[in-house]
Amino acid sequence: MKIEIDLDKCQGYAQCVLEAPEIFELNESGLAQTLAAGVTSENEKYALAAADLCPMQAISINN
Ligand code: F3S
Repeated sequence: MKIEIDLDKCQGYAQCVLEAPEIFELNESGLAQTLAAGVTSENEKYALAAADLCPMQAISINN
């Protein structure tokens, strides 16, 4: 599974970073970027929760 962030949608709300700081961080522009290359069985639930929490629905988790 792979994490994709739509930077046209991201507004820097950082809910993803708060939910899953091992997976997401903010870049120098204040928008989300990933720290982890992909979703593992260990971090999957946090990635999915972060995607759900994003107010802009900017995060997608794809197979
Ligand atoms: Fe951006 Fe959503 Fe995270 S707006 S900073 S992807 S919570």
